[in-house]
Amino acid sequence: MANDELKKRAAEAALEYVEDLDVIGVGTGSTIGYFIAALSRIKHRLDGVVSSSEATTQLLKANKIPVLDLNAVGPLPLYIDGADEVTHHLQMIKGGGGALTREKIIAAASEQFICTADQSKLVDILGAFPLPVEVIPMARSHVGRELLKRGGQPVLRENFITDNGNLILDVYNLHILEPAKLEAKFNNIAGVVTVGLFALRPADVLLLGTSDGGVQTIRI
Ligand code: A5P
Repeated sequence: MANDELKKRAAEAALEYVEDLDVIGVGTGSTIGYFIAALSRIKHRLDGVVSSSEATTQLLKANKIPVLDLNAVGPLPLYIDGADEVTHHLQMIKGGGGALTREKIIAAASEQFICTADQSKLVDILGAFPLPVEVIPMARSHVGRELLKRGGQPVLRENFITDNGNLILDVYNLHILEPAKLEAKFNNIAGVVTVGLFALRPADVLLLGTSDGGVQTIRI
């Protein structure tokens, strides 16, 4: 079964968590593309959605789903997003699409975080996927040197500017045994806006599309 089909199944399974909610947060990526398509079927029940990126905003608007400002709606009951890697403890690497900062803000502002993914994203140890780090442009070289000192191999993402006007360093060569510690450590480098490790605030539920045609639910 193709990965896209698994993503679609996981994304559609997330729909039942929306139930009677008025406002939810929505992430970024291809899995979330399937979720938005499913959400459009029940959009009449929603007041709107807080979007994690310009790409998601475009998709929501194309589906005629109202986009709301996080400042106007306050804490959210639910955030639904994908991941690049996720562990059994529901700690994740995110930011492959470059939307990690807004994703982390919405995750922090939400009571429940549901991660939807295909089974290829489930890993024992984070780090095979290069860790995205959003950086203020003038700090690019400084942050790069600091990441090197900490054992990473930073590579500037070519021809890419985030929705916030910043750069992304993708950090290779990490074998992340203590994700929460590394998240705090990298967050402390001056010039880092956001680290794409979601360990201090992991997901609460993982919906994993599996090759047997099912969707596995993992909770912490
Ligand atoms: C976007 O910045 C990421 O955090 C995505 O959640 C992640 O890249 C998952 O993308 P796919 O659903 O396309 O695999």
